[in-house]
Amino acid sequence: MSQIQSWLVTGAAGCIGSNFVRYWCDQYPDNKVVVLDSLTYAGDRNSLADLETNPGFQFVQGDITDHHLVESLLREHQLNGIVNFAAESHVDRSISGPGTFISTNIVGTQRLLEAARQVWLGDGFSGDHRFHQVSTDEVYGSLGDDDPAFTEDHSYQPSSPYAASKASADHLVRSYQHTYGLHTSISNCSNNYGPYQFPEKLIGLTICNLVRGKALPIYGTGKNIRDWLFVDDHCRGIDRVLRSGEPGCTYNIGGGTELTNIELVERLCDLADRLIGDSKELQLRFPDSLAAKGVPSRSLIEFVSDRPGHDWRYAIDISRIERDLGYQPATQIDAGLSLTMRWYFDNEAWWQSVMDGSYQQWIDTQYSTGD
Ligand code: NAD
Ligand code: TYD
Repeated sequence: MSQIQSWLVTGAAGCIGSNFVRYWCDQYPDNKVVVLDSLTYAGDRNSLADLETNPGFQFVQGDITDHHLVESLLREHQLNGIVNFAAESHVDRSISGPGTFISTNIVGTQRLLEAARQVWLGDGFSGDHRFHQVSTDEVYGSLGDDDPAFTEDHSYQPSSPYAASKASADHLVRSYQHTYGLHTSISNCSNNYGPYQFPEKLIGLTICNLVRGKALPIYGTGKNIRDWLFVDDHCRGIDRVLRSGEPGCTYNIGGGTELTNIELVERLCDLADRLIGDSKELQLRFPDSLAAKGVPSRSLIEFVSDRPGHDWRYAIDISRIERDLGYQPATQIDAGLSLTMRWYFDNEAWWQSVMDGSYQQWIDTQYSTGD
């Protein structure tokens, strides 16, 4: 079992990273956590506001491609673990502008690996160390309806620029383990949802549009399938890998919930109808929602043009992490969706502030109604 107690966590002003740091500081209050985040459109320091007074926590604004900065942080704070969440993470953006995906996801990961190699394998350092890469099931490509779920041995067949950049990063991580003996691990997870998710991903966007009475865009037929993982379960899975996974290991982390996009959005509509319909206070707070007007939210669903190269189905086999590390997702989808929706109800200031004018402009250009 690993004894590492001081961590550089990159990209932790984003969704999963911020939930992870909150989880980690709660589980291991004696650990040191230095967050490195460049605060792109997807990063918000407010997502970490409650942790700023924690004695072991420090926030540094900076880029993972800045090798010198990373090296000096590792040395100055004597950090011997890195958990790399920093990435450009949205498939649609990778289609309209793949360049930053190459620089952050590929070059950035290599620069982090190189800084880790210089510091941890250089002169004078002899302790335990770990570089953990947070990756995605999208590196495996797309499944047909009857295909078995992805195992860790599935070949890499990424189809979007996002997935290809994450696949490249995984290869680099393995090469640093194999060539230099850097202690690394990788986790490939399915679609996350939960608090602090930037409202460009399906669940966050749907909830924010439901309360504003705006259209709910569904790409293509809505029959594409994703496996949904509540973010806290993902954090627990990474914890198991960091503490008990052997150097060089790879684990899939999934939620065990496959749903078509239309099934998922309909569930969210029905949930909003129930939660807002039952609460005078929510009806007053969200007067533009259809639920406040007694109209079924499903009527907001709008089928739009399909995403180019849209992967059909992701499904993830978690037998390895179940068997080797005793991991099981704990949150049922309906409980997770309800918790997430309530979080967005209670944190309107957060999502209103991230959905600023320029973001809204970008999103408006993405959706055109399909015939
Ligand atoms: P996110 O987009 O919410 O957050 C990304 C964070 O990285 C932001 O805070 C951003 O400011 C920061 N960042 C971006 N470029 C940076 C750079 N060059 N230097 C420093 N910081 C930078 O992402 P997320 O959804 O929290 O995803 C976290 C990780 O998990 C990513 O690596 C992603 O590929 C992976 N992942 C996400 C999902 C999902 O469903 N969201 C699923 C599988 C894997
Ligand atoms: P998304 O949350 O972008 O994650 P990913 O592309 O990484 O799976 O999308 C999840 C699914 O929902 C995907 O099949 C695309 C679809 N989708 C929509 O139908 N409408 C939307 O507005 C968005 C953002 C996604």
